[in-house]
Amino acid sequence: MCGIVGYVGKKNAYSILISGLKRLEYRGYDSAGVAMINVQSELNIYKTKGKVDDLVAFCDEKDTTGTIGIAHTRWATHGEPSSKNAHPHVSASGRLALIHNGIIENYITLKEKLIDRGVQFRSVTDSEVLVQLIEYIMQSNELDLLEAVQVALHQVIGAYAIAILDREHPDTIVCARQSSPLVVGLGKDHDYYLASDASPIAEYTDKVVYLNDGDIAVLQYGKTLKMVNKDNETQQPKVKQIDVSLGQLEKGGYPYFMLKEIFEQPECLRDCMRGRINVESNRISLSAVIDYREKLINARRIIIVACGTSWHAGLIGKQLFESLCRIPVEVEYASEFRYRNPVIFPDDVVIAISQSGETADTLAAIELASKSGAFVFGVCNAIGASIPRQTQTGVYIHVGPEIGVASTKAFTGQVTTLSMLALCLAQERKSIPAAMYQEMIKELASIPEKLELALRTNKQIEQLAPIFTYAKNCLYLGRGYNYPVALEGALKLKEISYIHAEGYPAAEMKHGPIALIDSEMPVFVIATRDRLYDKVISNIQEVRARGGRVTALVTEGDEQISKLADYVIELPDTLECFQPLIASIPLQLLAYHIAVCKGKDVDRPRNLAKSVTVE
Ligand code: G6P
Repeated sequence: MCGIVGYVGKKNAYSILISGLKRLEYRGYDSAGVAMINVQSELNIYKTKGKVDDLVAFCDEKDTTGTIGIAHTRWATHGEPSSKNAHPHVSASGRLALIHNGIIENYITLKEKLIDRGVQFRSVTDSEVLVQLIEYIMQSNELDLLEAVQVALHQVIGAYAIAILDREHPDTIVCARQSSPLVVGLGKDHDYYLASDASPIAEYTDKVVYLNDGDIAVLQYGKTLKMVNKDNETQQPKVKQIDVSLGQLEKGGYPYFMLKEIFEQPECLRDCMRGRINVESNRISLSAVIDYREKLINARRIIIVACGTSWHAGLIGKQLFESLCRIPVEVEYASEFRYRNPVIFPDDVVIAISQSGETADTLAAIELASKSGAFVFGVCNAIGASIPRQTQTGVYIHVGPEIGVASTKAFTGQVTTLSMLALCLAQERKSIPAAMYQEMIKELASIPEKLELALRTNKQIEQLAPIFTYAKNCLYLGRGYNYPVALEGALKLKEISYIHAEGYPAAEMKHGPIALIDSEMPVFVIATRDRLYDKVISNIQEVRARGGRVTALVTEGDEQISKLADYVIELPDTLECFQPLIASIPLQLLAYHIAVCKGKDVDRPRNLAKSVTVE
């Protein structure tokens, strides 16, 4: 994780760096720092524990001039959050400053060697070893910065996106990437931006180069972008056009990005389906399925790999692919899959689901699957990220940048995309009747309007939320398609309100969690009208019999459950397999309002980061 930003050109670097850090704060907010070189060639470094706003306050009345600089927002791995461990790290002589996102696995060995040779360290981070190593190589071999970086990277094991300033060359930033993301933005006057993702760059230029693993870029103001690798072989920059509007990166009047993103979902799902679902011709077309039809329809098995919320989307995908396509599916935590020596067949299709497209474990799972000869398919949101580049094909969910750390619109976008993919394959495999296929397409296309209705529960949920702020534990129950919704609802509450919550298959509750139920334990039950409706009613009875307090999500017009539950939230009806899209909305709102009532920073929950680029 960690977010890095850089600029070299003729504009004031500080303001670009700070606004860039604010856009990247979702990647970590334990500490922040900036380094700029002023016209007197002085390297000014300011860093502090805390968030970017703390850094801005810290820099007040300091010299923040200069047209070149780098900046960092940290999610701590090695070393506690403190200003000493904050980036940029400075070399022993004070000549170089470096920012790093990733983990240097062999830093202890490198550090010991440098200490033996008299280098003094100021922090306990793995990152500092990079800047000390680079300077040591520069000095002892009389190399320039690029040459020293090339030599140093031959010695380094681990993941990194780095950027380095050299006080003696105040027009140049050298940056490099291995397994951690890095994007270079090309300004009009051969000025350059760099960042962990394109969001800090989008307001200045739409031309970017996504660095590949092994790339080292030299960003020299006024000169053409130079790209090489560790062995000094020239790499050809591939310039891409990005299409991110500023509005997508702002809160647009909402108090938090999370609330904005919850409310954006109807529009996001329209964007996700646009050009793919055609209700008039009753067809779904996904170019990946057209291009790789044989591979996909002949899959012996689908293995879904993902982490966090994306894994929950995968659990819904499993039910969709199994029931509609009759293909067996396994859903794996990427972090477990990658280390388990799993059995992977060449005719397996591995679907990697990821909002950010940068999750380290998911990338490693992709690598393992590709090496085993499986066909690897990505379902991703961030355009141009590593996962879409490292999979054979895939589908973007197209819900726009998600900034709130707790994922909301990406989840419903993933489920919508998996629904389209399952329907597409079902049609090709002729595994569902044509009439059913048509009914499902029509229903899926109508989901955005139904989400608009589901969002009308916001006021009711806002009023209910204070009742639950006292809770220490909550239970979320659901069955079938709604079981992953229960897991996701519980995860949302944990992430932003710090209340312990568990999602459980409603019937499994009697095999353990039922022991926890008392009048202090709120139980949220997804009890929409479907095949398992009567069974879920029995489960509600079991909770009631033990004094539990039930809040039920029900299908509008339901009269039975309102007699049993303490509170009911009514939702529009839909087909069972699309119910997760609708039922997720009130659970997102519930987590949001409970966290707000508890005074939590919804967009920046403690200890979390949105993009987890370390394993
Ligand atoms: C982090 C985020 C979660 C996300 C998970 C997987 O833990 O906080 O919201 O679900 O990573 O991320 P991905 O980008 O791969 O979907």
